[in-house]
Amino acid sequence: MASNDEIFKKIIAHAKEYGFIFQSSEIYDGLSAVYDYGQNGVELKNNIKDYWWRAMVRYHENIVGIDSAIFMHPTIWKASGHVDAFNDPMIDNKDSKKRYRADVLVEDHLAKLEEKINKEVEKAAKRFGNAFDEAQFRATNQRVLDNQAKVDEIKHRLYKGLENNDLADIKKLIEDCEIVCPISGSRNWTEVRQFNLMFSTQMGSISEDANTIYLRPETAQGIFVNFLNVMKTGRMKIPFGIAQIGKAFRNEIVARQFIFRMREFEQMEMQFFVRPGTELEWYEFWKQERLKWHLAMGLGEENYRFHNHEKLAHYANAAADIEFRFPFGFKELEGIHSRTDFDLAAHQKYSGKKITYFDPELNESYVPYVVETSIGLDRTFLALLGNAYTEEKLDDGSERVVMKLPPALAPVKAAVLPLVAKDGLPEKARQIMDTLKYDYNCQYEEKDSIGKRYRRQDAIGTPYCITVDHQTLEDNTVTIRERDSMKQDRIAISEISGIIAERMKMGEVRGKR
Ligand code: GAP
Repeated sequence: MASNDEIFKKIIAHAKEYGFIFQSSEIYDGLSAVYDYGQNGVELKNNIKDYWWRAMVRYHENIVGIDSAIFMHPTIWKASGHVDAFNDPMIDNKDSKKRYRADVLVEDHLAKLEEKINKEVEKAAKRFGNAFDEAQFRATNQRVLDNQAKVDEIKHRLYKGLENNDLADIKKLIEDCEIVCPISGSRNWTEVRQFNLMFSTQMGSISEDANTIYLRPETAQGIFVNFLNVMKTGRMKIPFGIAQIGKAFRNEIVARQFIFRMREFEQMEMQFFVRPGTELEWYEFWKQERLKWHLAMGLGEENYRFHNHEKLAHYANAAADIEFRFPFGFKELEGIHSRTDFDLAAHQKYSGKKITYFDPELNESYVPYVVETSIGLDRTFLALLGNAYTEEKLDDGSERVVMKLPPALAPVKAAVLPLVAKDGLPEKARQIMDTLKYDYNCQYEEKDSIGKRYRRQDAIGTPYCITVDHQTLEDNTVTIRERDSMKQDRIAISEISGIIAERMKMGEVRGKR
């Protein structure tokens, strides 16, 4: 069986071969951690955006959307804390000359220890069968207890070091854990230094009066600084939310794992403004609401989990990630953060403008508290791509690669295929194409054998192939082939649209409140 690493490599190759994702500037040997979306990738990406926008903005009457500029006044990033504190601790290996995030080196080491514990538990579970009591085993097995104690101690030291900006102790922790450079295998490390992740550029025509401005590292600040505008012009009543989808930029020290960690990426963020004191209730609500959104895509409940933050950012009073099981393990896909009044209060202070809400029920004004949901669009794309990629051996001995994407998100909904490119079949197929293409993204294909065309459509995840043959000319029926089962049915042309529409439904995406 192929390892996760091999499967991941295949997914990356497939994404390129079938026009989902290309390395940026490829003909110039590429630009590190920057990617372009191809003809199928952009469709899938747009469908994810649309799914998110509908679930957040359209289904919630008290959430509205905006589209703020990427360039913003530089003081915004001072107020938000990004100029002073949007740093990652970095460390270099002197032999390989490779740079790492110091905290990630320690986290990778922790993951190895946790893996050891899990292996121990799995072994025991096999040995004891039905009689196995996992909780008791974890609480009593000496090897598990020793490794767990190591994990707890390392975590404690890492978080304390990060919190107190004690870079010397983080270096010492790397040495104490005997972490080696994966490339050189040596422990010849530099000191740990802080590295600001924001990209900067100059605005203005001549250097003397040019101002340093930043490419936004998150879309959220564009929402905070428009809070008053939206509240007043939209006559919004608390609780209400503002949503936005847009590009963000981070000069990541180690950008890796394909589109998981990029230097230019897209976020889908929503800031929900609430009455102070109610934020933790709303935080719980949004955690569940967002999980439901993920589950409705049908990638499997077992592939998601919450990770509640032990170490909270200075502005947060609760935070959790929704993690997804990527081919390289469970990793953050979305963050849900209770950000208190930190951002609005900071902008009030730095801008000198009063940023408050008059609550008619309480008859008082206050700076609202904020619960934020922040999801990476590219990471969602990667989750879908990895989950969809399926290699199948068919009954006739042949093989196919099929992208089992949720039909509602698939780049192409239906391919219209004349069996042969003559006898009036192309003309008939074009007529069908014309009736479908305003409602669904469809593809017309007449080149190559029908089998080859089916394989190409499977490889991009097209849920339906509609084949026009000689019988179509006689009785206005076609065959419709379903991607996953490969089952073919003969149906009337007039039924096609309804059948596609039925498959485009997504699961239940919102709860009640
Ligand atoms: N406004 C809050 C915020 O930006 P974050 O946890 O730093 O929070 C939110 O980012 C989401 O953005 C992450 O959960 C992840 O999905 C995505 N993201 C962050 N950095 C990324 C990167 N370098 N490449 C791709 N996606 C990224």
